[in-house]
Amino acid sequence: MGCRLAIGTQWGDEGKAKIIDYLTRDADIVTRYQGGANAGHTVVVDGKKFIFHLVPSGILHEGKTCVIGNGVVIDPIKLLEEMDFLNIEGYDAYNRLLISDAAHLILPYQKAIDGAMEEFRSKKIGTTMRGIGPSYSDKCLRIGIRTADIFDNDYLKERVALALKIKNLQLERVYNKSPFSLDEIMDILITFRKKAGHLVCNTQHFLHSSLAQGKEILLEGAQGFALDIDHGTYPYVTSSNPTIGGALLGTGLNAFNIDGVIGITKAYVTRVGEGPFPTEAEGIDEERLRVNGKEFGSTTGRPRRCGWFDLTLLKQSILINGLTSIAMTKLDVLSGFEKLKVSTGYRVDGKLIDYFPASFLNKAEPVYEELEGWDQDISHCQNFDELPENAKKYINYLEEKLECPITMISVGPERKKTFERDSGLKI
Ligand code: IMP
Repeated sequence: MGCRLAIGTQWGDEGKAKIIDYLTRDADIVTRYQGGANAGHTVVVDGKKFIFHLVPSGILHEGKTCVIGNGVVIDPIKLLEEMDFLNIEGYDAYNRLLISDAAHLILPYQKAIDGAMEEFRSKKIGTTMRGIGPSYSDKCLRIGIRTADIFDNDYLKERVALALKIKNLQLERVYNKSPFSLDEIMDILITFRKKAGHLVCNTQHFLHSSLAQGKEILLEGAQGFALDIDHGTYPYVTSSNPTIGGALLGTGLNAFNIDGVIGITKAYVTRVGEGPFPTEAEGIDEERLRVNGKEFGSTTGRPRRCGWFDLTLLKQSILINGLTSIAMTKLDVLSGFEKLKVSTGYRVDGKLIDYFPASFLNKAEPVYEELEGWDQDISHCQNFDELPENAKKYINYLEEKLECPITMISVGPERKKTFERDSGLKI
């Protein structure tokens, strides 16, 4: 193995951090490639909860190098807060992290515009208000500020002044909000340079030379397939590409560098924010999934919408990402359901469709099959054989339908509650 990719396959919040933490044991380098502090990756170690927004969760492993790739949008204030917290906890983020010099920075005017645009929309997206969309759009407009820019004061001032000229007009005249001063933005950037400037480098070169030296790289996705700006439920998506294409663009690695793609998949489905969600459960079922699964956003605290496993969504995610295996998380949350629904396809205007539509998902009515549930608490299970028969049947059924091996299963938030499994699937 040289480079493996761990990717969210649904609407984010699949429990990626826990699986990435597990996979980090075999890696030398862990790299984030897209998104920003909209992500909230939770790892529980010895009962202590760590929530990562920007720093790859690999930082919890001694001796591993962590990289924030060029595709990530970095809020410098949040990143410093996170690094300071990790330092206090005994993890040396100031020495084990590298930050791409081509990554874009998120500044307060972008967060203000994120909030103002949400107020403006009659149909809200429900963004995390972390400035993600405005930052990626400024990148495309070529008025973004990159980490590389912070080292030359005159150039930096020129770039910030240009951005503010446009953004302040927008804030004041379109949204009726207060403008930002050049000095306050420069202060943030200079503080960032002083504290973290030594970590900024050409990470594309670092990653390629590490591969050449035989190092193992793990790429850590944020959000998930259905939130992808190209492949997800537009406009109810994030502004980056969590899918495999984003991993290549956001690191500078090429397709031939990827040796395996692990799709992290929750045993049911959740979504935060607005947008279509065909298998959304109702009433007591939804509430039970939410409560058992502690389905509240780790970045915003919002209750997540919860629903049944969606094979159509997953099949599309497998195709687009080229998944080589699946890690299934939160199987324990399904204990106690008498029946488990699984959507095998959609009916749209009376017609059956077996793909994930880009444009009319709001019209899709799921077609369900029901499987028998199980009562037992499975959080103590340490291998596949220990699971109740109906839990095994659930996994075997999904694997057969998906035609992708389910090789890891997680049955609780703690690090140790993950086991591997030999898949019988021949693909
Ligand atoms: P943004 O990424 O803040 O622009 O939000 C766009 C949409 O993506 C909203 O529906 C958010 O709730 C959703 N979103 C963004 N990040 C995450 C995440 O890490 N997990 C789940 N949903 C997310």
